[in-house]
Amino acid sequence: SAVLNDLAVRAGLKYFGTALGESAVSSDATYASIVSDNTEFGQLVPENGMKWESTERTQGVFTFASGDISANQAKKNGQGLRCHTLVWHSQLPSWVSSATWTVDALTAVMEAHITNVMGHYKGQCYSWDVVNEAVGDDGNWRSSVFLTTFNGTDYIPLAFNLAKAADPDTKLYFNDYNLEYNGAKTDRAVELVKLVQAAGAPIDGVGFQGHLIVGSTPGRSSIATALQRFTALGVEVAFTELDIRHGSLPAPASAYVTQGDDYANVVGGCLDTPNCIGVTVWGFTDKYSWIPGTFSGQGDALLYDADFNRKAAWTSVSSVLAAK
Ligand code: G3I
Repeated sequence: SAVLNDLAVRAGLKYFGTALGESAVSSDATYASIVSDNTEFGQLVPENGMKWESTERTQGVFTFASGDISANQAKKNGQGLRCHTLVWHSQLPSWVSSATWTVDALTAVMEAHITNVMGHYKGQCYSWDVVNEAVGDDGNWRSSVFLTTFNGTDYIPLAFNLAKAADPDTKLYFNDYNLEYNGAKTDRAVELVKLVQAAGAPIDGVGFQGHLIVGSTPGRSSIATALQRFTALGVEVAFTELDIRHGSLPAPASAYVTQGDDYANVVGGCLDTPNCIGVTVWGFTDKYSWIPGTFSGQGDALLYDADFNRKAAWTSVSSVLAAK
């Protein structure tokens, strides 16, 4: 029977993908075999390995061992690759985040980082998350060393221009969470795309991370409406980090059915949006997830349970893809 990436491609998407956990893939053979199956996952994204603290922990010293795990897996398995992420306030080494910079000095730091990291992966990335999470949950610009140093948003078009120069053939994305609710944060993200375009800088896509909650996930048409606010600006969209967590564990059996409905609404909203090009889940098994470490007592957000059995959510996703 056909599995997720095959179904997604038949439904007109470019891929159905997953984040790859760098430690899980080297320590867990079952995990490694599922993540390598290109009929299930046609695309990989490193969960942590290409972030600034992984690639340039010390200024000017570039290390690619962790990021290469995903790039090499993708190559070996015939999978695509999303590359994540360049300019982000988090997992940023303190030599960047805690220093006081002039605009010129921080520009040089961004240029060196973007040029070296994108240069290393040149030709291998379908897309790059150039700027990540630049909008706060309240809809204001998110505070960061970048926003502060530039005294505003000029670092955003700058990052996209530097990225274009470093690898002209990859899709350049802005990526953020909570865009699904179509509130103040979504409005600000729309403004971000417009300001990059107005500056004459290149932007090709917007990633909806999709870190959602069972029972509070918007419906299929609301998801499509939010996505289409961006495609109307001429950029593509994708779900880039989808997971839908239970707000409290243990959850009743009925909540696992609701979780499946929520997944179907998200994937369905993408299918209803021309130029929504793919869906990536942020891991696939409840055995490994960032959620319990961040939201204590929550989780079970993924498509496979901790014993690698496919959940109701897996069946819902496969059904909505097959129905397209
Ligand atoms: O690698 C170190 C290890 O050396 C150290 O011993 C250990 C002790 O805490 O930490 C390890 O680093 C952890 C890293 O994951 C790798 O496992 C960090 O503490 C931990 O904070 C980090 O969490 C990641 C998180 O981003 C950081 O913000 C999660 O795995 C990752 O799933 C999560 O992913 C983000 C996306 O990049 C952006 N969108 C939101 C998403 C979820 O937070």
